[in-house]
Amino acid sequence: MAVIFSGVQPSGTITLGNYLGAMKNFTSYQNEHECYFCIVNQHAITVPQEPEQLRKNSRNLAALYLAIGLDPDKVTLFIQSEVAEHTKLGWIMTTLATIGELERMTQYKDKAQRHGNGDSIPAGLLTYPPLMAADILLYQTDYVPVGDDQRQHIEITRDLAQRFNSRYGEAFKLPAIHTREVGARIMSLQEPKKKMSKSDANSLATPYLLDEPETILKKIKRAQTDSENKIYYDREGKAGISNLMAIYSLITDKSTDEIEQLYEGKGYGQFKNDLAEAIIETTRPIQKRYYEFVHSDYLDQILTAGAAKAARKAAATLNKVEYLMGL
Ligand code: ADP
Ligand code: NA
Repeated sequence: MAVIFSGVQPSGTITLGNYLGAMKNFTSYQNEHECYFCIVNQHAITVPQEPEQLRKNSRNLAALYLAIGLDPDKVTLFIQSEVAEHTKLGWIMTTLATIGELERMTQYKDKAQRHGNGDSIPAGLLTYPPLMAADILLYQTDYVPVGDDQRQHIEITRDLAQRFNSRYGEAFKLPAIHTREVGARIMSLQEPKKKMSKSDANSLATPYLLDEPETILKKIKRAQTDSENKIYYDREGKAGISNLMAIYSLITDKSTDEIEQLYEGKGYGQFKNDLAEAIIETTRPIQKRYYEFVHSDYLDQILTAGAAKAARKAAATLNKVEYLMGL
């Protein structure tokens, strides 16, 4: 039995990219492994959030975790800020990191660039990776199922863990990333060379898990493609259609080769209609369960119990770390 940990930020509405790249895999681990799924609200505040909206987003995300099929009797589902060990170990990991290695993180560079000069870049964007390392290391995690955009953050997590272990003594297991081959990076529907993200302001670029059927159809129909009108997989030359094929592949469990055969001699119009239909079929039952969970007290009980359970394991790791460091 391995330990699995993964987190999602409650910084907006969950996208099809979040679901296909990470969340959809979560359910496959729950029967055999010890799973921790976290709503990382302390990561979300690395950029300003509206308080009431953040509170609501955290709860909505919890409902969505349950709606995709996570069983609270099998997994530990909790909100990061409710387990104080995260920030305590986060600070310790920050003291192990160097400014240089944090400044080299591509996600930091991208986000910092959008803020302009140092006087307007929130420091939390820089120190995000040590907090993420703490999230993972507290649970003695073996595997972290995430999208490809998190690869560098998992690498620095291993580096920091190793640094601690060799400097102070063995406290951490070194975690490994788990990504899928297709779909580890779902791209924007409008700019297929850019990662799909919750925080994209262009709503046409992003299908959300809770979008109405008509909205999904509209977004897929307007997705950027090319003028060739032939369906084959070529990430470089045909980024738009290849991205749609990756989505189709993940949803229907058909390989991209099978999809090419299926659509030989057919155009983008039919493919897009079928894709939209497949997305709608997938999201319909998730949405139904979501609206049941989000309106129930059951959800709050699950989160309270989840935080208590997570804290027990987290405290064991933190105690050891503090002892080894002389704290
Ligand atoms: P976002 O970047 O959309 O705000 P998060 O940072 O909360 O998403 O990440 C939640 C999970 O979704 C992570 O495992 C992340 O790797 C994954 N993820 C985010 N965007 C994508 C994408 N475009 N394709 C595949 N996986 C993604
Ligand atoms: Na991200």
